[in-house]
Amino acid sequence: MVQFDAVIFDLDGTLTNSERGIVACVRYALEKMNRPVPDADTLRKFIGPPLSDSFRIYCGMDERETAEAVRAYRERYLPIGWAENEVYPGIRALLKTLHDQGSDVYVATGKPQTPSERILRHFELMPYIKGVAGPTDDDPRADKDVLIRRVLDGKSYRRPVMIGDRRSDVTGAQAAGIEGIGVMYGFGEPDEFNEAGCPVAQDVRQLSVLLLGEEPKQKGYFISMEGLDGCGKTTQANAVEKALRECGFTVRRSREPGGCPISEKIRGLLLDVNNKGMSDIAEALLYAASRAQHVHEVILPAMARGEIVLCDRFVDSSVAFQGGGRQLGVPLIQQINAPAIEGCKPDTTIFLQLDHETALRRRENASALDRMESEKAAFHARVEEAYALLVRQEPERFITVDARQSPEEITQKILPMLFERMKEAGVM
Ligand code: TMP
Repeated sequence: MVQFDAVIFDLDGTLTNSERGIVACVRYALEKMNRPVPDADTLRKFIGPPLSDSFRIYCGMDERETAEAVRAYRERYLPIGWAENEVYPGIRALLKTLHDQGSDVYVATGKPQTPSERILRHFELMPYIKGVAGPTDDDPRADKDVLIRRVLDGKSYRRPVMIGDRRSDVTGAQAAGIEGIGVMYGFGEPDEFNEAGCPVAQDVRQLSVLLLGEEPKQKGYFISMEGLDGCGKTTQANAVEKALRECGFTVRRSREPGGCPISEKIRGLLLDVNNKGMSDIAEALLYAASRAQHVHEVILPAMARGEIVLCDRFVDSSVAFQGGGRQLGVPLIQQINAPAIEGCKPDTTIFLQLDHETALRRRENASALDRMESEKAAFHARVEEAYALLVRQEPERFITVDARQSPEEITQKILPMLFERMKEAGVM
């Protein structure tokens, strides 16, 4: 039987860290009004309480100025600031485990309900959450006990609990007749819960132990990025990494050849333009050797810890560049790589599709080309062809995106498809 059958979370400072967006918007409002910007500690105090109170207390504003400051704040918050936010590491796994084991998970927050739901949807947390209560135009009250009663909507639970980073979360819980747990990683003061008489978790791990009796188990997931040199892989890997981290995942970013000290040394050999005499088979074996160390030292351990591995290139690159480009053939490359990868295979491969002529034009603008990049056009044409064959053979593994679009457009296409795959695999 689950310990807590209803678990209600506060949002800011408990599920998500909204500091970046809120502080940037306060700063924007004050600069717009030509007012001095207070120090970082004071700016952090704006997170949580009503904005108008904070502008009055910390900036000495009168009623008219306060209204102007709140307007200026919203000018930046509504289009940009709300998304400058991130899920605390470990929270996603906690919510998913609570949900999967049958607890009803709710959110009761002092932040208005519509933006709160928007944030929870943006970070893909809504699938775990049964209901959200925050102030609305119809019911602008922000007292926690009122919000708790509203979100529970008359349902009776054996052992409901409210979790939050402020004392008002716990006193609100007590007023609503339920248990409370305080968390210390949010925006509360060091003595926030001293007299609250409730259990306190220093971090998400301790909170997980209080709620579940153990740390949640996470499932690893392996994403590789592939494409011709110049396709924009690294830019997209950066964007995917940022989005996954903001959603609360632990991401192990890596690359091939390389990714750990021994493999990075092999990378040096492979890409050195002075190594012109390297034989095709020596090259293929060095890529496989670099991979063997990387799989052993980085990828498999990260997967075992339940992390998301995001790797710039993997064995598909050997199939395309050495199998196709060098014409060693796919069977030989697979044979060489079998002992290197120890059965490890990407769950999803993001393929940035670009014809070799466009890729070449992009590379021409680069400052210095490495040994592989300086290969002739016919080589890269064969690589392009080999990639096309790989994608045709395993359409279910690849997410293929036209790399001629703008980086922002490409990211916007990749993320929903990737999240869909991760949901299907039960990691999201
Ligand atoms: P990068 O520039 O994307 O880091 O990749 C380095 C070069 O190595 C790039 O030209 C592709 C090539 N490569 C192979 O030929 N075979 C492989 O197995 C890998 C991983 C990369």
